[in-house]
Amino acid sequence: MPIELRPLSYALGAEVRGLDLREPCRDADWQAVHAAFLAHGVLLFRGQRITREQHIAFSRRFGTLDRHESLPLDRDATHPELLMVTNDPKPDGSPSNSRYTGQMWHSDMSFTLAPALGSLLRGLHVPPVGGDTLFTNMVLAYDSLSATMKGLIEGLHGIHHSERKNSGLSAQWEAENRRLNPPVAQPLVRVHPETGRKALYIGEKVKCLEGMTPEESQPLIDFLVRHATRPHFVYRHQWQADDLLIWDNRCTAHLALGDYDPRHRRHLERTTVLGTASGHVADLEVVQ
Ligand code: SIN
Repeated sequence: MPIELRPLSYALGAEVRGLDLREPCRDADWQAVHAAFLAHGVLLFRGQRITREQHIAFSRRFGTLDRHESLPLDRDATHPELLMVTNDPKPDGSPSNSRYTGQMWHSDMSFTLAPALGSLLRGLHVPPVGGDTLFTNMVLAYDSLSATMKGLIEGLHGIHHSERKNSGLSAQWEAENRRLNPPVAQPLVRVHPETGRKALYIGEKVKCLEGMTPEESQPLIDFLVRHATRPHFVYRHQWQADDLLIWDNRCTAHLALGDYDPRHRRHLERTTVLGTASGHVADLEVVQ
């Protein structure tokens, strides 16, 4: 039976029905999934009781997987392709480092020189209420800018930092994180390599625009983030256990809302598909 698609919102996203990811994905189904991924930016598969190996195997259909060398504390010890997004305490009882992962608007791995093509996030334990994730369509966000603003931002680069909100990391690990992930300048406008469409590439990890002072940069960054995350560009995902959610980082941005009672368990696991080379290590010489 051919797969069925159900739109998730006006702006982006579709639910894919009729596929059991415990089975190898047939080529005809894969082609339909891939076309839907390019068309909708976010795909939802409900009720997928898959193993870690099946999660990794399906993710590999999208491309080479990141082994998360730049986030060594968050990856699984035996499956480096899996990044833990969890509030489960560590074995010594201390809080998880990844309990606040994603709580800023961002596109995955934008602070690296091969930012993610896509991400596949599986919900294993989700809170009874909240813990939602927002997604926004960065092609619509770009298309709806004025021609003058498009001209202004063409050629500008945003400097992406890897620091997270409330990381809870020790000073030593913060320093190691900065060593592993120096700030990277990425174009504010990127051309999607498969659809050819232009998309805004900005988020709350952008602290400055290259070659501009923080004072000059901030109003433009604030405007672009506010514009890109207007509610009518957004889909809000309410998690159910065994959801697999897949997004195209080249034309969407997302935010983990953190809108849940932290006494409830939230444990998700993510694979990250490597994208093409983009950006350069930032020139932090700021014009004063
Ligand atoms: C992420 O940014 O990969 C995590 C999103 C979430 O936890 O909802």
